[in-house]
Amino acid sequence: MVKKKQKKSAAKQKPVCLITGASAGIGAALAREFAAAGWDLALTARREEPMVALAKDLKEEFGATSYIIPADLAKVGACADILERLSKKTTHIDGLVNNAGYGLTGDFTENEWSAHKDFLTLMLEAPCEMTRLVLGGMVERGFGRIINVASLAGHIPGSRGHTLYGATKSFLIKFSQSLNLEMQEHGIKVSALCPGFTYSEFHDVNETRGAVDKLPDWMWMSAEEVAESGFIALSRNRAVHIPGAPNRIIAVLARLIPESWALKLMGRNSARFRKDKK
Ligand SMILES: NC(=O)c1ccc[n+]([C@@H]2O[C@H](COP(=O)([O-])OP(=O)(O)OC[C@H]3O[C@@H](n4cnc5c(N)ncnc54)[C@H](OP(=O)(O)O)[C@@H]3O)[C@@H](O)[C@H]2O)c1
Repeated sequence: MVKKKQKKSAAKQKPVCLITGASAGIGAALAREFAAAGWDLALTARREEPMVALAKDLKEEFGATSYIIPADLAKVGACADILERLSKKTTHIDGLVNNAGYGLTGDFTENEWSAHKDFLTLMLEAPCEMTRLVLGGMVERGFGRIINVASLAGHIPGSRGHTLYGATKSFLIKFSQSLNLEMQEHGIKVSALCPGFTYSEFHDVNETRGAVDKLPDWMWMSAEEVAESGFIALSRNRAVHIPGAPNRIIAVLARLIPESWALKLMGRNSARFRKDKK
């Protein structure tokens, strides 16, 4: 009886989607997709200003309410803290997009352990912890939508440099597949979104813009195209989605050619994606 009442009252409110890394790129574009589909948003990232501007746009364009929670997800305890602050603004979180991320350039030994640890906290621990913390409520209400933003890098062999990046993205893909299966009977859809090269701040932040700008146009998608494709895949409950035909072909080729060839190719090509020389 109590459960029925809870479901009814939640149904009257607009669903709320919590998006990490919402201050730029794919996260901001996904916020727009959810808002266009009638959702309210909870936006989190370290920079408040771009989220305030995004919230204003989403209000004007779609009538969406956005709750803004500035936070550093590489800090231990950040997920619980974000949800605690959010609980003062909304009683329910119906969607989650684990998107915040960056790339750490260089061979493994070029970075101190503290840099790798922060990277793993943001790229692995935060998505798992945030998902665990919001899933209880979604199961209770019998409704939920989750996107884990992984990467095409999770489908191809490891690269030279960016050592942990592909590994974290492979992890997110497997994590999403398992969750997708486990959540089917609870009305919760889970999808790993695996973009290839996407125009955003990503390559400026990791200082490889000079190298990646030499790549041909066909290898690139806009953040908006990635978000639109990812949102549709989520609505179809695709456990794993690679946006863009060229990226899907690359993923298939990586599976078909002998692993030793693929690794050699990666070794030769990935050495190019080093930090821009100052
Ligand atoms: N761009 C690509 O080519 C590409 C390809 C495949 C996958 N991806 C994945 O897509 C996701 C989004 O990347 P993007 O391309 O949109 O890059 P982006 O434009 O650089 O956006 C990254 C977002 O993550 C946030 N972020 C970074 N570190 C954070 C931290 N410590 N705490 C909280 N938020 C943090 C940033 O916000 P603040 O700086 O304000 O904190 C920003 O909102 C990432 O997971 C990335 O690995 C990107």
